[in-house]
Amino acid sequence: MSDMQPRLPLIEIENLHHRFANGAHVLRGISLTIDRDSFTVLGGENGSGKTVLMKHLNGLLEPTSGTVKVDGVSVSEDSLRARLKVGFVFQDSDTQIVAQTVEDDIAFGPINIGCEREETALRVKNAAEALNITRILEQSPHRLSGGEKKKTAIAGILAMNPEIVVFDEPFAGLDYGGVKMLLKKMLEIRSCGTSVLVITHDLEKVLAHADRFIIISNGIIAGDGTPPEMLQAASEHGMRVPPGMSVPEMTWMEPES
Ligand SMILES: Nc1ncnc2c1ncn2[C@@H]1O[C@H](COP(=O)(O)OP(=O)(O)OP(=O)(O)O)[C@@H](O)[C@H]1O
Ligand SMILES: [Mg+2]
Repeated sequence: MSDMQPRLPLIEIENLHHRFANGAHVLRGISLTIDRDSFTVLGGENGSGKTVLMKHLNGLLEPTSGTVKVDGVSVSEDSLRARLKVGFVFQDSDTQIVAQTVEDDIAFGPINIGCEREETALRVKNAAEALNITRILEQSPHRLSGGEKKKTAIAGILAMNPEIVVFDEPFAGLDYGGVKMLLKKMLEIRSCGTSVLVITHDLEKVLAHADRFIIISNGIIAGDGTPPEMLQAASEHGMRVPPGMSVPEMTWMEPES
């Protein structure tokens, strides 16, 4: 059946509201589609609702009203399906660690979705190689450095073969080499046909690679366009736009890498 609807946007959000039990009305009517094979940056001030919005993509939060569909199916109706398609690299890697070794941690997702032992082992191997963490597979993830934890979390997501990977503030705590590695990884993910969505305040590290830049402010979409189109809006909404820097310069990746 899915062959009959290849052109649906990957994500369709329609008039999404989220009000928490304490009355905080955090998302106030968000409508948005995210295409396949896209690289999107989502920005906005602290507390604007970015993480709350993304948690609706895999059912971690339910809409108060409105709908969120992944590949044509409502997340509320089938959150398991949404979790297979939407990989989420959390802001805080510690919340994503579930096992006693890095290897088991990466294997957790594939096992959970019913992969056989051999398939799981292959996925763990590939993901660990992709993130260059094969040498720490036997270690306890709790004892890793912040950057190593982030790599472990990303490997665990890649092992699920998602259709989109959402990175929530991925650069926080990464050194120069770590940022370069992560950017490279994002571009590789994208070149394999998987979409990438990066929530970040660090425009100068990544914006050059995005084909779309969405700005959220106080629970509504305040801007949506190409990165050059949105620079003015970004500075109006509290993001630092490096003075005199053009969008193609906004990357920490070196041209030859
Ligand atoms: N469980 C909750 N109950 C009540 N309010 C919440 C809850 N979770 C988040 N909020 C509120 O929702 C608002 C948006 O939070 P969110 O985490 O989406 O911000 P953000 O845009 O991701 O910010 P940051 O850039 O700091 O990560 C905040 O004011 C926060 O206090
Ligand atoms: Mg956040």
